[in-house]
Amino acid sequence: MSTAGAHTQHPEHTPGASVRRTREKGEPRFPDGPKADPAGSHFERRIRSFQPRRSRVTAGQEEALQRLWPRWGFDVDGRQRLDLAEFFGNDRPVVLEIGFGMGEATARMAAADPGTNILAVDVHTPGQGHLLGLADQHGLDNVRVGNGDAIILLREMLTPDALGGLRVYFPDPWPKKRHHKRRLIQPAFLDLAAARLAPGATVHCATDWEPYAQQMLEVLTAHPGFENTVADGGFTPRPQFRPLTRFEGQGLDKGHVVNDLIFRRVPHADQPADRAGGDHGADRPEDRDAAGT
Ligand SMILES: C[S@@+](CC[C@H](N)C(=O)[O-])C[C@H]1O[C@@H](n2cnc3c(N)ncnc32)[C@H](O)[C@@H]1O
Repeated sequence: MSTAGAHTQHPEHTPGASVRRTREKGEPRFPDGPKADPAGSHFERRIRSFQPRRSRVTAGQEEALQRLWPRWGFDVDGRQRLDLAEFFGNDRPVVLEIGFGMGEATARMAAADPGTNILAVDVHTPGQGHLLGLADQHGLDNVRVGNGDAIILLREMLTPDALGGLRVYFPDPWPKKRHHKRRLIQPAFLDLAAARLAPGATVHCATDWEPYAQQMLEVLTAHPGFENTVADGGFTPRPQFRPLTRFEGQGLDKGHVVNDLIFRRVPHADQPADRAGGDHGADRPEDRDAAGT
């Protein structure tokens, strides 16, 4: 499948042009599309693994958001548990991809494996529009696009054992030491992931930031809920089924080394549920208050 440069274009707009129009006060940016703050302050977390950014949305992305969101998109509002079989219209295994960026790799993997459903979540509005456009263009009915924080999706909206896999490709590396707490892959996150992954499901991570790759290897190896699929206990060569991603390409251009890790969820032992979302989660109101959020 070729996805290069693929956008669903709106006939009245110049391709690639950003959309600039004046909205009334309080008028939503995308009336039928993703909400600006889906979970609201109730689930707002003190430490987040992403950088909130104002993003330019092209005409094609806006058109895709408006037209396709009601069909394939959902807000991560933390208010209900998702019935994934109902959501996808079948009971095929569901793989969660956290942080799909512009979604090209997601679309390619969905096209190559129609027997797997992909629950793709990111906070990046242009990427959501882009992925919806790709899904439409290539008839990918096995992709759903979530808007919001993956921690809230995992913690509040998915049920135990709901997932057949988890993909985290090139998560924000947060290279400065004082930002390491923002990294997604850490013990508390793995507790939460383990509680949502069925036995035998795999966690596949990739990064071009070597210190983060080491951290991933350490915390995944130490976690009792996972075992390395690689016999020597190290990194795995990039599997053929994972396409090169946009961020990976940028890393490779800078001479970075890319590492993949694939771990398997082992048969269940009880997970310490109270740690779930921990370092990332302002679960308690007093935490939020203390952080001034
Ligand atoms: C560095 S980009 C990588 C994008 C893509 N996987 C690639 O390789 O091109 C990381 C992405 O993860 C998203 N992200 C980070 N933390 C997230 C979270 N907690 N929930 C949802 N998306 C998140 C960011 O918005 C960003 O789009």
